[in-house]
Amino acid sequence: MRVLICHDAAAAVARAAQILQDTVAARPEAVLGLATGGTMEPLYALLRARIADGALDLRQVTTFNLDEYVGLAADHPQSYAATMRRLLFDTAGIGPDRGHLPDGTASDPVTEARAYEAAITAAGGIDLQVLGIGRNGHIGFNEPTSSLGSRTRVKTLTEDTRRANARFFGAQETAPEFAITMGIGTVLDARACLLLATGPEKARPVAAAVEGPLSAACPASALQLHPDATLVLDPAAAADLRLRDYYQLVHPDGGKARL
Ligand code: PGA
Repeated sequence: MRVLICHDAAAAVARAAQILQDTVAARPEAVLGLATGGTMEPLYALLRARIADGALDLRQVTTFNLDEYVGLAADHPQSYAATMRRLLFDTAGIGPDRGHLPDGTASDPVTEARAYEAAITAAGGIDLQVLGIGRNGHIGFNEPTSSLGSRTRVKTLTEDTRRANARFFGAQETAPEFAITMGIGTVLDARACLLLATGPEKARPVAAAVEGPLSAACPASALQLHPDATLVLDPAAAADLRLRDYYQLVHPDGGKARL
Protein backbone atom coordinates (compact mmCIF):
# COMPACT_ATOMS: atom_id res chain seq x y z
CA MET A 1 0.00 0.00 0.00
CA ARG A 2 1.19 3.49 -0.82
CA VAL A 3 0.28 5.78 2.10
CA LEU A 4 0.48 9.45 1.12
CA ILE A 5 0.09 11.90 3.99
CA CYS A 6 -0.48 15.40 2.64
CA HIS A 7 -0.08 18.60 4.64
CA ASP A 8 -3.80 19.38 4.77
CA ALA A 9 -7.13 18.24 3.37
CA ALA A 10 -6.94 20.52 0.34
CA ALA A 11 -3.51 19.08 -0.55
CA ALA A 12 -4.90 15.54 -0.18
CA VAL A 13 -7.77 16.36 -2.54
CA ALA A 14 -5.33 17.91 -5.03
CA ARG A 15 -3.09 14.82 -4.85
CA ALA A 16 -6.05 12.50 -5.47
CA ALA A 17 -7.18 14.67 -8.38
CA GLN A 18 -3.68 14.50 -9.85
CA ILE A 19 -3.65 10.69 -9.70
CA LEU A 20 -6.99 10.57 -11.51
CA GLN A 21 -5.80 13.14 -14.03
CA ASP A 22 -2.60 11.16 -14.68
CA THR A 23 -4.68 8.02 -15.29
CA VAL A 24 -6.81 9.81 -17.87
CA ALA A 25 -3.77 11.48 -19.47
CA ALA A 26 -2.21 8.03 -19.95
CA ARG A 27 -5.45 6.56 -21.27
CA PRO A 28 -8.14 9.06 -22.35
CA GLU A 29 -10.69 6.23 -22.68
CA ALA A 30 -9.97 4.98 -19.15
CA VAL A 31 -12.60 3.13 -17.16
CA LEU A 32 -12.96 4.92 -13.82
CA GLY A 33 -14.65 3.56 -10.72
CA LEU A 34 -16.21 6.48 -8.84
CA ALA A 35 -17.43 7.10 -5.31
CA THR A 36 -19.84 9.45 -3.55
CA GLY A 37 -19.86 10.88 -0.01
CA GLY A 38 -18.85 14.14 1.60
CA THR A 39 -15.14 13.43 1.12
CA MET A 40 -15.59 13.30 -2.64
CA GLU A 41 -17.33 16.68 -2.98
CA PRO A 42 -14.14 18.79 -2.93
CA LEU A 43 -12.49 16.27 -5.27
CA TYR A 44 -15.26 16.67 -7.83
CA ALA A 45 -15.19 20.45 -7.36
CA LEU A 46 -11.50 20.42 -8.27
CA LEU A 47 -12.11 18.14 -11.26
CA ARG A 48 -14.86 20.51 -12.47
CA ALA A 49 -12.45 23.42 -12.17
CA ARG A 50 -9.79 21.54 -14.15
CA ILE A 51 -12.32 20.67 -16.84
CA ALA A 52 -13.35 24.33 -17.00
CA ASP A 53 -9.76 25.50 -17.45
CA GLY A 54 -9.05 22.84 -20.08
CA ALA A 55 -6.58 20.81 -18.00
CA LEU A 56 -8.81 17.74 -17.86
CA ASP A 57 -11.02 16.12 -20.48
CA LEU A 58 -13.27 13.27 -19.36
CA ARG A 59 -15.30 13.05 -22.57
CA GLN A 60 -13.89 9.66 -23.51
CA VAL A 61 -13.91 7.94 -20.12
CA THR A 62 -16.40 5.33 -19.00
CA THR A 63 -17.36 5.37 -15.32
CA PHE A 64 -18.91 2.92 -12.89
CA ASN A 65 -20.00 4.18 -9.50
CA LEU A 66 -19.57 1.94 -6.50
CA ASP A 67 -23.16 1.92 -5.38
CA GLU A 68 -26.71 3.23 -5.45
CA TYR A 69 -29.57 3.19 -2.95
CA VAL A 70 -32.31 0.66 -3.56
CA GLY A 71 -35.63 2.43 -4.06
CA LEU A 72 -34.31 5.80 -5.23
CA ALA A 73 -34.93 6.64 -8.87
CA ALA A 74 -32.16 8.33 -10.85
CA ASP A 75 -34.08 11.62 -10.66
CA HIS A 76 -34.41 11.55 -6.85
CA PRO A 77 -32.13 14.39 -5.70
CA GLN A 78 -30.36 12.16 -3.13
CA SER A 79 -29.82 9.26 -5.51
CA TYR A 80 -26.18 8.79 -6.35
CA ALA A 81 -27.11 9.09 -10.03
CA ALA A 82 -28.44 12.62 -9.47
CA THR A 83 -25.50 13.41 -7.18
CA MET A 84 -22.99 12.37 -9.84
CA ARG A 85 -24.76 14.41 -12.53
CA ARG A 86 -24.63 17.46 -10.28
CA LEU A 87 -21.06 16.98 -9.04
CA LEU A 88 -19.37 15.79 -12.22
CA PHE A 89 -21.24 14.27 -15.13
CA ASP A 90 -23.02 17.42 -16.32
CA THR A 91 -19.77 19.40 -16.39
CA ALA A 92 -17.68 16.52 -17.76
CA GLY A 93 -20.11 15.68 -20.58
CA ILE A 94 -20.60 12.15 -19.26
CA GLY A 95 -24.04 10.93 -20.33
CA PRO A 96 -25.93 7.83 -19.14
CA ASP A 97 -24.31 5.81 -21.94
CA ARG A 98 -20.90 6.18 -20.27
CA GLY A 99 -21.69 7.13 -16.66
CA HIS A 100 -22.95 3.95 -15.04
CA LEU A 101 -24.61 3.42 -11.69
CA PRO A 102 -26.71 0.50 -10.52
CA ASP A 103 -30.43 1.13 -11.10
CA GLY A 104 -31.92 1.57 -7.63
CA THR A 105 -35.44 1.08 -8.95
CA ALA A 106 -34.82 -2.14 -10.90
CA SER A 107 -37.74 -4.51 -10.31
CA ASP A 108 -35.27 -7.26 -9.45
CA PRO A 109 -32.27 -5.74 -7.62
CA VAL A 110 -30.47 -9.10 -7.46
CA THR A 111 -30.51 -9.43 -11.26
CA GLU A 112 -29.58 -5.75 -11.60
CA ALA A 113 -26.53 -6.30 -9.38
CA ARG A 114 -25.36 -9.23 -11.50
CA ALA A 115 -25.90 -7.23 -14.70
CA TYR A 116 -23.84 -4.37 -13.25
CA GLU A 117 -20.96 -6.69 -12.48
CA ALA A 118 -21.18 -8.08 -16.03
CA ALA A 119 -21.17 -4.55 -17.50
CA ILE A 120 -17.92 -3.75 -15.67
CA THR A 121 -16.35 -6.88 -17.11
CA ALA A 122 -17.68 -6.09 -20.59
CA ALA A 123 -16.09 -2.63 -20.39
CA GLY A 124 -12.73 -4.30 -19.85
CA GLY A 125 -12.56 -3.82 -16.07
CA ILE A 126 -11.77 -0.71 -14.06
CA ASP A 127 -8.46 1.11 -14.52
CA LEU A 128 -8.70 3.27 -11.40
CA GLN A 129 -11.22 2.76 -8.59
CA VAL A 130 -11.76 5.83 -6.39
CA LEU A 131 -12.84 5.01 -2.84
CA GLY A 132 -13.88 6.75 0.36
CA ILE A 133 -13.91 4.94 3.68
CA GLY A 134 -16.77 4.79 6.16
CA ARG A 135 -16.38 5.40 9.88
CA ASN A 136 -16.87 1.65 10.25
CA GLY A 137 -14.24 0.82 7.63
CA HIS A 138 -16.66 0.15 4.79
CA ILE A 139 -15.74 0.70 1.15
CA GLY A 140 -18.66 1.19 -1.19
CA PHE A 141 -21.52 -0.13 0.92
CA ASN A 142 -19.58 -3.23 1.91
CA GLU A 143 -20.37 -3.08 5.58
CA PRO A 144 -18.21 -4.89 8.17
CA THR A 145 -18.28 -8.69 7.74
CA SER A 146 -18.88 -8.40 3.97
CA SER A 147 -17.08 -11.25 2.26
CA LEU A 148 -13.67 -10.20 1.01
CA GLY A 149 -14.55 -12.06 -2.19
CA SER A 150 -17.99 -10.47 -2.65
CA ARG A 151 -19.27 -9.24 -6.01
CA THR A 152 -21.89 -6.59 -6.81
CA ARG A 153 -25.01 -7.37 -4.78
CA VAL A 154 -27.70 -5.99 -2.48
CA LYS A 155 -26.51 -5.04 1.02
CA THR A 156 -28.42 -3.98 4.12
CA LEU A 157 -26.91 -0.77 5.48
CA THR A 158 -25.86 -0.56 9.13
CA GLU A 159 -27.61 1.88 11.46
CA ASP A 160 -24.30 3.77 11.74
CA THR A 161 -24.09 4.23 7.97
CA ARG A 162 -27.73 5.31 7.79
CA ARG A 163 -27.13 7.84 10.58
CA ALA A 164 -24.00 9.16 8.80
CA ASN A 165 -25.97 9.54 5.56
CA ALA A 166 -29.11 11.00 7.16
CA ARG A 167 -27.56 14.46 6.79
CA PHE A 168 -28.06 14.25 3.02
CA PHE A 169 -31.81 13.64 3.39
CA GLY A 170 -34.57 16.03 4.43
CA ALA A 171 -36.11 15.93 7.91
CA GLN A 172 -39.18 14.15 6.51
CA GLU A 173 -37.17 11.44 4.74
CA THR A 174 -35.29 8.47 6.10
CA ALA A 175 -32.03 7.26 4.60
CA PRO A 176 -32.64 4.07 2.60
CA GLU A 177 -32.08 0.69 4.21
CA PHE A 178 -30.62 -1.17 1.23
CA ALA A 179 -28.12 -0.48 -1.51
CA ILE A 180 -26.68 -2.21 -4.54
CA THR A 181 -22.91 -2.09 -4.16
CA MET A 182 -19.87 -3.42 -5.95
CA GLY A 183 -18.37 -6.18 -3.84
CA ILE A 184 -14.95 -6.20 -2.27
CA GLY A 185 -13.85 -8.73 -4.88
CA THR A 186 -15.12 -6.33 -7.57
CA VAL A 187 -13.06 -3.49 -6.09
CA LEU A 188 -9.95 -5.67 -5.83
CA ASP A 189 -10.25 -6.48 -9.54
CA ALA A 190 -9.62 -2.81 -10.43
CA ARG A 191 -6.14 -2.34 -11.84
CA ALA A 192 -5.46 0.46 -9.33
CA CYS A 193 -7.29 1.72 -6.23
CA LEU A 194 -7.21 5.23 -4.79
CA LEU A 195 -8.69 5.78 -1.34
CA LEU A 196 -9.15 9.37 -0.17
CA ALA A 197 -9.78 10.02 3.53
CA THR A 198 -9.81 13.34 5.36
CA GLY A 199 -10.77 14.42 8.87
CA PRO A 200 -10.50 12.96 12.37
CA GLU A 201 -13.49 10.62 11.99
CA LYS A 202 -11.42 8.59 9.53
CA ALA A 203 -8.34 8.13 11.75
CA ARG A 204 -9.55 4.89 13.32
CA PRO A 205 -10.82 3.12 10.17
CA VAL A 206 -7.72 4.20 8.20
CA ALA A 207 -5.41 2.73 10.87
CA ALA A 208 -7.45 -0.48 10.89
CA ALA A 209 -7.32 -0.67 7.10
CA VAL A 210 -3.57 -0.07 6.79
CA GLU A 211 -2.10 -1.58 9.93
CA GLY A 212 -4.82 -3.82 11.32
CA PRO A 213 -5.34 -7.45 10.43
CA LEU A 214 -6.76 -8.35 7.03
CA SER A 215 -10.31 -8.88 8.14
CA ALA A 216 -13.89 -8.70 6.95
CA ALA A 217 -14.46 -6.70 10.16
CA CYS A 218 -12.73 -3.82 8.34
CA PRO A 219 -13.61 -4.13 4.65
CA ALA A 220 -11.03 -1.51 3.62
CA SER A 221 -8.29 -3.79 5.01
CA ALA A 222 -8.86 -5.87 1.85
CA LEU A 223 -6.79 -3.23 0.06
CA GLN A 224 -3.76 -4.85 1.75
CA LEU A 225 -4.20 -7.56 -0.90
CA HIS A 226 -4.17 -5.12 -3.79
CA PRO A 227 -0.88 -4.71 -5.69
CA ASP A 228 -1.55 -1.06 -6.62
CA ALA A 229 -3.49 0.65 -3.81
CA THR A 230 -2.83 4.27 -2.87
CA LEU A 231 -4.27 5.94 0.23
CA VAL A 232 -4.26 9.73 0.19
CA LEU A 233 -4.73 11.20 3.66
CA ASP A 234 -4.71 14.47 5.49
CA PRO A 235 -2.92 14.60 8.88
CA ALA A 236 -6.18 14.12 10.80
CA ALA A 237 -7.08 10.92 8.95
CA ALA A 238 -3.49 9.68 9.37
CA ALA A 239 -3.36 10.46 13.10
CA ASP A 240 -3.75 6.88 14.39
CA LEU A 241 -1.17 5.30 12.07
CA ARG A 242 1.69 3.86 14.12
CA LEU A 243 4.15 3.96 11.20
CA ARG A 244 3.27 7.51 10.17
CA ASP A 245 6.91 8.61 10.25
CA TYR A 246 7.85 5.77 7.92
CA TYR A 247 5.16 6.67 5.36
CA GLN A 248 6.34 10.28 5.47
CA LEU A 249 9.93 9.15 4.97
CA VAL A 250 8.97 7.15 1.87
CA HIS A 251 6.66 9.83 0.44
CA PRO A 252 7.68 13.22 1.87
CA ASP A 253 4.62 15.48 2.12
CA GLY A 254 2.53 12.89 0.29
CA GLY A 255 4.63 13.33 -2.84
CA LYS A 256 6.44 10.92 -5.10
CA ALA A 257 8.49 8.14 -3.53
CA ARG A 258 12.14 9.09 -3.00
CA LEU A 259 13.29 6.18 -5.13
P1 PGA B 1 -18.03 10.27 3.60
O1 PGA B 1 -18.39 8.77 3.25
O2 PGA B 1 -17.07 10.72 2.58
O3 PGA B 1 -19.35 10.99 3.55
O4 PGA B 1 -17.43 10.25 4.99
C1 PGA B 1 -17.37 7.88 2.96
C2 PGA B 1 -17.95 6.49 2.84
O5 PGA B 1 -18.90 6.17 3.58
O6 PGA B 1 -17.44 5.70 2.04
